[in-house]
Amino acid sequence: MIPYGRQSIDEDDINSVVETLKSDYLTTGPKVKEFEEELAKKLNFKFVVNVSNGTAALHLSSIVLLNQGDKVITTPNSFLATSNSIIYQKAKPVFVDISEKGLIDLDLVEKKLQKEKIKVLYLVSFSGHPIDDEKVKYLKEKYKVKVLYDNAHFIGKDNGVCDIATYSFHPVKHITTFEGGAIATNDERVYKKLLLLRNHGIYKDSSMYPWEYKMVELGYNYRLTDVACAMGLSQLKKLDYFQKRRHEIAKFYHENLPKNIIPLYEYNENSSYHLFVVRYSFKNFDEKAQFFNKMREKGIALQFHYIPINSQPFYAKKGYRYSQDEFPKMDRYYLEAFSLPIYPSLSEKEQNYVIESLESNLNSF
Ligand SMILES: Cc1ncc(COP(=O)(O)O)c(C=O)c1O
Repeated sequence: MIPYGRQSIDEDDINSVVETLKSDYLTTGPKVKEFEEELAKKLNFKFVVNVSNGTAALHLSSIVLLNQGDKVITTPNSFLATSNSIIYQKAKPVFVDISEKGLIDLDLVEKKLQKEKIKVLYLVSFSGHPIDDEKVKYLKEKYKVKVLYDNAHFIGKDNGVCDIATYSFHPVKHITTFEGGAIATNDERVYKKLLLLRNHGIYKDSSMYPWEYKMVELGYNYRLTDVACAMGLSQLKKLDYFQKRRHEIAKFYHENLPKNIIPLYEYNENSSYHLFVVRYSFKNFDEKAQFFNKMREKGIALQFHYIPINSQPFYAKKGYRYSQDEFPKMDRYYLEAFSLPIYPSLSEKEQNYVIESLESNLNSF
């Protein structure tokens, strides 16, 4: 089965992990800091804190950014963790429709900001497409909001607009540490608080007694292991190659897709291409399901990213409403969009096979 995404692990990764397994440290050791420093350079942030997964990264960021009752604008087109992390803090997600590119529509965000008191924007660089920093900078200054970028799909140099960015190193992402995530910021005060929150809210203070430690925050155990960080360091060395491969595949799709399958956006050299999303004008969801099943029979596991978060039963229970009238773009996207396989080891033969299978299945409609 050809999946929509998968990890790329080589002998170097395996050797790095084995070396760390033989070392004195399995959990917090030298690799943690080393990985954080390398990530900070790569992402152009002053500070990075590694955590156990992208959801933990969002959770700790929400503790830093939000209080009970705060309103946060976010997108329906993301993995659940983005808006769940707002609810962890008893704050309130305010969903805004998407634009053609699958990211939140920043013009609609501005309209919402004119009407409601909003504390923070949680923006997702969906599929790897960078967020419009210029527009976000303008919104930040004009409406005095804080900004979090959920960069689970994006990996690249930051332009210093957001207050906090979060990352995920799940196997389908750009690099993997098995489970894993990171939080990046340029604010030293935030960085220090995140370090505490990641480790039970405690710090070591042996100024009185050698065994002394102090708990000053209600924290968690969201630490990333040394073994995972060794893997991350090894993966990071290949990030440029991984990105090159993703771009080659994206270009191939742009050049070879059947005419009625339309990429979500023009080829973009700044996209990280975590996903390659396309649209087809399915008549209804049954037709879309039939198409997915036929592709599966051919050994290709298409995926759809994402079911509108505010249409989930949990969100309905919380009083959220998802209707075609309020989210016309998301609604259309939900029917039309799907994600094609894209990952560094997807061979030319497999890419051609994906195209052939799309063509033959669409012909039978
Ligand atoms: C946009 C987005 N945010 C957050 C997450 C959560 O990351 P993790 O699976 O590492 O907890 C994901 C994971 O798929 C994601 O796609």
